[in-house]
Amino acid sequence: MASGTIVGGIHRVPGDKSITHRALLLAALAAGRSRIRGALTSLDARTTARVLRQLGAGISPLRPGATVTVTGRGAWRPPREILDCGNSGTTTRLLLGLLAAQPIAATLTGDASLRRRPMRRVTEPLRQMGATIDDGGRDGLPLSIRGGRLQPLSWTLPVASAQIKSALLLAGAAGRVEVQLRQPAPSRDHTERLLRYLQFDVVTAGNVIRLRPTGRFTPLAVDVPGDPSSAIFLLAAALLARRGRIAVAGVGLNPTRIGYLSVLAAMGADVAVTEPDEQGGEPRGTMMASASSLTAVDVSAAESAGVIDEIPMLACLAARARGESRFAGLAELRVKESDRLALLARNLAAIGARAAIDGDALIVAGGNRPLAGKVVTGGDHRIAMAFAVLGTLPRARIVVDDPACAAVSFPGFDRALAGLFQRRP
Ligand code: S3P
Repeated sequence: MASGTIVGGIHRVPGDKSITHRALLLAALAAGRSRIRGALTSLDARTTARVLRQLGAGISPLRPGATVTVTGRGAWRPPREILDCGNSGTTTRLLLGLLAAQPIAATLTGDASLRRRPMRRVTEPLRQMGATIDDGGRDGLPLSIRGGRLQPLSWTLPVASAQIKSALLLAGAAGRVEVQLRQPAPSRDHTERLLRYLQFDVVTAGNVIRLRPTGRFTPLAVDVPGDPSSAIFLLAAALLARRGRIAVAGVGLNPTRIGYLSVLAAMGADVAVTEPDEQGGEPRGTMMASASSLTAVDVSAAESAGVIDEIPMLACLAARARGESRFAGLAELRVKESDRLALLARNLAAIGARAAIDGDALIVAGGNRPLAGKVVTGGDHRIAMAFAVLGTLPRARIVVDDPACAAVSFPGFDRALAGLFQRRP
């Protein structure tokens, strides 16, 4: 693979994970049949579909290229078994928001990674709205929730998190009560866009978001764009190559998701996007990247919030840039699918790059020595993919301990990456 030359061409990435989860959840609550085109079919997306089936929704199998049909009954039935949310924080937190408004009891759990992740950031405000939640005295899974009649909520989010924001907006929408949220910084706004599509009155003014429960959970027709958080891995491989240029078509260009393009541009990366074409409330277009010579970057805490899922790839790119990069405000990285801050520093060092943690910041010294060593993913898909991209560098010898975990968000990742370096027949 590591010839250093990218074979040009137009590539695609699987559907957006955030939009797929949201479309499935909202469709499962609507009375009638929804259609979701371009849905992600990864492990996380299948997890959402599986738990929604346990709650009574009919969902066709998630297969690449197939339109997913969701048949909802307008209300959920009590699940007979525990809802296993696997590795997916988005499934868990958004589902909790919707369950808060359902007069049924459910118990949620997940894999070892998910069970360690904090849930009180969502359960505390949901309790205040009126949900009954038993977390056994621990801030994590498993936990049980019984929903019912809710009260309006006015709440300040402790961190800029789309998952917390979405859980509370969904609770307000499903429970038909007003919700007002103050957030420290903006985060991805797919929930707001989908709720507006369903005629809910959602207004964002500065860092305040207000929902009035004017809409209805009617069936949806959603066309999911490619996931920009997956596209970065292909773009990064092109940037690191000796020569070549790629295009990734049909990618979501929602402004709350593509902050990483500005960071890449600040690193001297040759990246570009086409004019966005708005489809179903979400802009999409083509991203392009060419082999580039990169320089170090300083990412502020305010910027980090908008590129939180892309930090693994950006930090790995910084290891190949000229100079020392600094990524500030990464406390949230510690509570993702793994402690990504610790794993980034550890793995960069393990392959011969220099990296250090300074409080909530990650410092990465760039260089061009051949990289070699073993990467411990902790089962974290984005760590696996970021280091696999470094592994495409000529003369690199990087062994990722669990490459299969990429399937959490990017099924077929290995093939997609290899495809950048192979001439098509
Ligand atoms: C997501 C929000 C982000 C992100 C996650 C998906 C979402 O998490 O890291 O991959 O779909 O709402 P936080 O909201 O916890 O930052």
